[in-house]
Amino acid sequence: MERIVNLCKRRGFIFPSAEIYGGFRSTYDYGPLGVNMLRNVKDAWWRSMVQMRDDVVGIDAAILSPSQIWEASGHLATFTDPLVDCRNCHERWRADKIAGVCPNCGSADLTEPRAFHLMFKTHAGPVEEDSSVAYLRPETAQGMFVNFLNVLQTTRKKPPFGIAQVGRSFRNEITPQNFVFRTREFEQMEMEYFVPPADAQKWFEYWLEERMNWYLGLGIPADKLHLRHHEQSELSHYSRGTADVEFLFPWGWDELEGIANRGDFDLSAHAKASGEKLDYFDPATNERYVPHVIEPAAGATRAMMAFLLAAYHEDLVEGESRTVLRLDWRLAPYQVAVLPLSKKPELEDVSREVLGILQPHFMCDYDVTQSIGRRYRRQDEVGTPYCVTVDFDSLEDRAVTVRDRDTTEQVRVPIADLVSELRRRTGEG
Ligand code: GAP
Repeated sequence: MERIVNLCKRRGFIFPSAEIYGGFRSTYDYGPLGVNMLRNVKDAWWRSMVQMRDDVVGIDAAILSPSQIWEASGHLATFTDPLVDCRNCHERWRADKIAGVCPNCGSADLTEPRAFHLMFKTHAGPVEEDSSVAYLRPETAQGMFVNFLNVLQTTRKKPPFGIAQVGRSFRNEITPQNFVFRTREFEQMEMEYFVPPADAQKWFEYWLEERMNWYLGLGIPADKLHLRHHEQSELSHYSRGTADVEFLFPWGWDELEGIANRGDFDLSAHAKASGEKLDYFDPATNERYVPHVIEPAAGATRAMMAFLLAAYHEDLVEGESRTVLRLDWRLAPYQVAVLPLSKKPELEDVSREVLGILQPHFMCDYDVTQSIGRRYRRQDEVGTPYCVTVDFDSLEDRAVTVRDRDTTEQVRVPIADLVSELRRRTGEG
């Protein structure tokens, strides 16, 4: 864990936020490599959940939202964590995470738990009065429920169909912790799948399998991933059944994603509160019903952390130890690095030509500093799957050397075939 945190800082994946002012508790900024990788995680999710399906569409709803939404969703009443104070050192903790003892000083002299509300409250407009109260959304999900009719009417979808969204959510967590695992500002990737009530269980099981396969397909090893079904007592106020996809983090198994059978809770609650009919009329059966909802709800920032942890390896190459991120090429911040063998000007033109050929197809880095061996190590450490080295022979034979991150094998490839060769290796055509 410490190595990942160091690597993230040193190589520009994730920085502590507002660092020049001493940092701002548990908030993080994504640097040049982190922003690429986080975008790749979200793109991989969008590709699998929206692009490759004809039954799911996307939206991008507002973050700032009126109280009515959170009143109807149940969040205003129930979205709390149990807060306790340590009477000895005055630290505050989430009672359900500490087993009755203060993790800071070891004292068992704790206050009774009280409900602490997790939503960030603000005011929209210049006057701070009750009618201007607004909230930063604590989940993206409600955006899909309140737009159910808009989407139904504009896309002509019918159940089973889904609405997907990726975006920021905010929770005033009592104890943000474990790097970007639990933060107050984070990104979610959620999909609400609306189904005929009788089919809810079937679709719940379908999405459990689909979502497990998504993580496995992007390189999380099977022995570090499992499903955990919630006990009845753990279920959220809206849920008829939930299972978490859990990853083996350095501190043990913990949640990556929750998949819930939300029944008709949300559409019924918003219909009641808004007075709009949020249901579906099936012309085939002449039946009107409120669809039930299956919700795979993932964290993008949390998933990125799991992909980094799973990819981190230290191995030996030619007797020298190296750090290598064995990231799937779809997630790596750079897919290809173009490395001129030397800084000599005669190599620059052809190196830039190679870069220009690759850039429309792959996210590329271009690095001329230090020895070629050092540059290979730097690329290994940030997970770049392929290095393309331009040398003096390239001027004569119009070919370059392609080096594979995982095997360190090198092959000569004509510049004219470079894109198709890299596409073949990454499995895209
Ligand atoms: N709409 C349902 C929902 O929001 P959740 O289990 O509270 O369910 C879904 O959140 C996912 O969002 C979690 O599995 C986790 O990956 C991510 N998540 C939730 N709170 C987070 C936090 N404070 N920091 C980072 N990620 C978080």
